[in-house]
Amino acid sequence: MQKQPSKMLNAATAAVLPEKNSKKILILASGNGSNFEAIAKHFQQKAFKEKIDIELLTDNKNAYAIQRAKKLNIPCFYVQFENLYDFLKPRAQQYNLCVLAGYMRILPEKILKLGKTPDTSGQKIQNKFINIHPSLLPEFKGKNAILQAFNAGAKKTGVTIHFVEKRVDSGKIIVQKSVAAEGKTFAELEKSIHEIEHKIYPEIIENLLFKKNILLFGGGSREHALAQKLLESPFLDTLYLANPNDGFKHLGKTVEFPHTSNSAADYSALAKKAHGLNIDLLVVGPENPLFDGISDIFQNEGIKVIGADKRWAELEGSKSYAKKFMTKNGIKTAEYKVLKDCSPEKIKSALNYFKSKSQTPPVIKADGAALGKGVYLPETFKEAEFEIKKFLEGKFGKASKKTILEERLFGKEISLLSFWDGKTLVSFPPAHDYKRLLDNNKGKNTGGMGAIAPTKISTGENKQLEEYQNTLKTALLKEGADFKGIIYSGLILTKKGIYVLEYNMRFGDPETQVLLELLDTDLLYVFLKMSDKKLDEIDLKFNKKRAYCVILASEGYPDSPKKGAQIKNLEAAEKYGCKIYFAGVKSDTIFAVHKAAANTPLQKALITSGGRVLSIVKSAYSNKSALDKIYQTASEIKFGSKIYRKDIGKN
Ligand code: GRF
Repeated sequence: MQKQPSKMLNAATAAVLPEKNSKKILILASGNGSNFEAIAKHFQQKAFKEKIDIELLTDNKNAYAIQRAKKLNIPCFYVQFENLYDFLKPRAQQYNLCVLAGYMRILPEKILKLGKTPDTSGQKIQNKFINIHPSLLPEFKGKNAILQAFNAGAKKTGVTIHFVEKRVDSGKIIVQKSVAAEGKTFAELEKSIHEIEHKIYPEIIENLLFKKNILLFGGGSREHALAQKLLESPFLDTLYLANPNDGFKHLGKTVEFPHTSNSAADYSALAKKAHGLNIDLLVVGPENPLFDGISDIFQNEGIKVIGADKRWAELEGSKSYAKKFMTKNGIKTAEYKVLKDCSPEKIKSALNYFKSKSQTPPVIKADGAALGKGVYLPETFKEAEFEIKKFLEGKFGKASKKTILEERLFGKEISLLSFWDGKTLVSFPPAHDYKRLLDNNKGKNTGGMGAIAPTKISTGENKQLEEYQNTLKTALLKEGADFKGIIYSGLILTKKGIYVLEYNMRFGDPETQVLLELLDTDLLYVFLKMSDKKLDEIDLKFNKKRAYCVILASEGYPDSPKKGAQIKNLEAAEKYGCKIYFAGVKSDTIFAVHKAAANTPLQKALITSGGRVLSIVKSAYSNKSALDKIYQTASEIKFGSKIYRKDIGKN
């Protein structure tokens, strides 16, 4: 026979099965209960599409939380700790979440087990027990955490919300928020911490109760990495993928979309489909859909988007537009001339302008976007003249019918990727992208053959980088950039300071593969905050690792890569602890080659189908070990015509 709860103070709701279209939270508190009250009020005062039931459970007859429950008219159970298991066993099913808020007991494994259930898809195990702890875990675990931090003279401390696991204050962290401690009395510090707790605990609970459906657009390594990172989020319901490649489509549910589309009608059809699937947020990987206005189209359909709108995608889509934006807003950028027709006189006169300033010929850039390949660095003015003509005649199609000549700058190049929500700009540590095809930065420009992050810069350069970000933020605010997305500043550190080479309005590929290794904050949480224009409310946490990415490409890349080779020995990645993110791959059935067995399908295999085939990624606190393992993996993965740079991270 099941034991009854020790005492039921108000047992108005003792239903065993969860009600349809309602959510139920059990809050466990032993004392004051201010968090309990904040959570209860949040759910009582805000309108939700489902009914939210809250119950309080306490192990302390004298808990002030009980008085609060009475005032708020919330059912409350007094259950001695020894009886908690018996109380929860028949009920655990009906709770969507069991929230510890000052519950002064350590939950044994058999109770924690009651809170672990497979989610609806049956794959992920979910943990219903969450806790709030008043420090930045793993610092100051256990009791009196605020006092511990105060006595230790910590400059900052904070709040952690985490899943509850067997060991005390050690489960997977959901969110952390820091609080400045310096200069505060103990009482002031305690007050600030509680204020933060009361703000973020209800919000996190809401996000855990109402998980989000995300549509990720794009089919390269970058999107594979983004998909993997989004899957780590406890706030994710279903991940939908538009145009994934066969290497990662198993990570979500595919939403079909014509591969080569750039028509608004197709994006509208996708937006309608997304609406039907209850997609909460679209995340756009590549630039082309942004140029074509995918953000505007989805927003008109009432779906939030991470990705610049059509107007702001122009910062990437047109170099001359970007130049105007920079010059107008005091952002340092190289001197430039725009050319639109290929008459030899016009070309000569433009070149003469640069000749009068320097011995070095200008850089030639297609005005429009050309997959990162539309840049040419001539060695001589003669070569420049020849190449400019080719650009203007359409070497990169429409993209180079208008061409920019730009004073050549010298210095270290870095990629600075920033989140922007229309109000706040927060950047990743700087990354370095290896653009050229061959070792020692020789050969053609590519989409990127590898990346590292963070790239080392001096303290002085770091200061300049901060100043640059302030200038950029001021410019964006002044120009009313009210989109939520990524701004990628291609920067060069010159003797005259930081100059902008280009803007991209999306995550870089391969920079994303390394930067996501450094991000310790839940990416989906960041996106959700951005979509509410509240990026300023979160602390982005980056770890101190160094991450590397080496791209395996197919011979002939970037012009005409060989395709159709079977990729073998992918297990090498696992052996060396590396991650693989796929790009130019597709799944194919391999047929037996022996005559007698011809047409007998053997197995499904991945074959190469594009220039950049896959990214090998690893991060570590020690540089060398990660790089060695990446290169071991690179040499052991086999496919015909495999090429890769051997000097990533080495210079
Ligand atoms: C909070 O500081 C919480 O972080 C910790 O216990 C305290 C509970 O306070 N786990 P209250 O009972 O919610 O006022």
